[in-house]
Amino acid sequence: MSNHLTLSVEQSPVMNTYTRFPVTMVKGKGSFIWDEKEDKYLDFTSGIATCNLGHVPGYVHDKVQEQLSLLWHCSNLYHIPSQEKLAKLLIYNSFGDQVFFCNSGTEANEALIKLARKHAEMRGKDSRKIITFKHSFHGRTLAALSATGQEKLQQGFAPLVEGFQHLEFNSFEDLKVLETIEACGVLLELVQGEGGVIPANKEWVLKLAEICKQNDLLLMIDEIQTGMGRTGSLFAYQQYGIIPDIVSLAKGLGSGFPIGALIASNEVAQAFNPGSHGSTFGGNPLATSAGLATVQYIVENQIAQDAQKLGSYLVEKLEELQKDYPQIKEVRGLGLLVGVVFEGSALDVVKKLLAEKVLTLTAGEHVLRILPPLNASKDEVDLFVKTLENVLSGE
Ligand SMILES: Cc1ncc(COP(=O)(O)O)c(C=O)c1O
Repeated sequence: MSNHLTLSVEQSPVMNTYTRFPVTMVKGKGSFIWDEKEDKYLDFTSGIATCNLGHVPGYVHDKVQEQLSLLWHCSNLYHIPSQEKLAKLLIYNSFGDQVFFCNSGTEANEALIKLARKHAEMRGKDSRKIITFKHSFHGRTLAALSATGQEKLQQGFAPLVEGFQHLEFNSFEDLKVLETIEACGVLLELVQGEGGVIPANKEWVLKLAEICKQNDLLLMIDEIQTGMGRTGSLFAYQQYGIIPDIVSLAKGLGSGFPIGALIASNEVAQAFNPGSHGSTFGGNPLATSAGLATVQYIVENQIAQDAQKLGSYLVEKLEELQKDYPQIKEVRGLGLLVGVVFEGSALDVVKKLLAEKVLTLTAGEHVLRILPPLNASKDEVDLFVKTLENVLSGE
């Protein structure tokens, strides 16, 4: 007999891993999303930096629909045209030479960790340690969680995976420590997204990259939140003047269709060979059609440049607001990955904005995280800023 009778009337059939707002979303278009009562919301979360081209972008929709009537799934034992085209496009637009596909950000980082370790083995290096940073977020599987620099997320999941050491982000002092550590690589976000929208200091990143080069450490960038135009360039590393060895991607790569990827230099990619790693669904025709259409659209329509301009406009407006509202302590970010630091609870602001039909996120206790679609309009930004002002003036 099914055990459904043992569920209480109130208990959700879905496990309790998210604190959900009491709203049910059913439809989206562009910067807007509608709930089941047909109420319309301005969505400045973009599905947490995933729907970077807004909801149901026409070009991607059409390409996925074409693929839907051709072939949904085909194992990686055969060649998949959209997978190979997407890999070529990512390579053409980045430092990299080869791509591995998976289904999410955490899987991309899991693959990244495995690749770095295998590369160390290939090179005959003793240490398999990977250096990451405090307040970072790299995902929820055990290795990605062990790489993550937030103890509260690791609580209850011991034993964690060995071989990670967390240094202080943006600390020149800790770079001196890095110079003395035996390790095989360094993994970092260039803007810590979940950790509080904290951009990496450019000089610090350049110094870090120099140490990586001198000490034969792989430079690995988690671009899962910062990639796909979000920060004003296709990849954030392009604004820092560095050349990574591995980059992990997901979120915006499929415009909302689940997909993750690793881009690696030729030398590093050689560490994987048949049997080293794999994924049944990774690189499947539907996901890579979504990815291919997304990257084509972003590159051909200079969406990253638009994000950079709109990001500056949004920050300018928020800084104007800051002059009148001392609750705002700081406005920071890169491109359209923007954080507003409040004296009090950011969640309170999110809830008040939700009541006004505007969706936003937090990043820690005090930071309101704003992630508009990269192709949002100035009018939509104005609407957002006006609503935020109304909320703050009513406090
Ligand atoms: C920087 C970063 N890395 C990894 C992840 C994990 O990605 P996913 O939730 O797709 O597994 C996230 C998700 O928020 C992220 O922001």
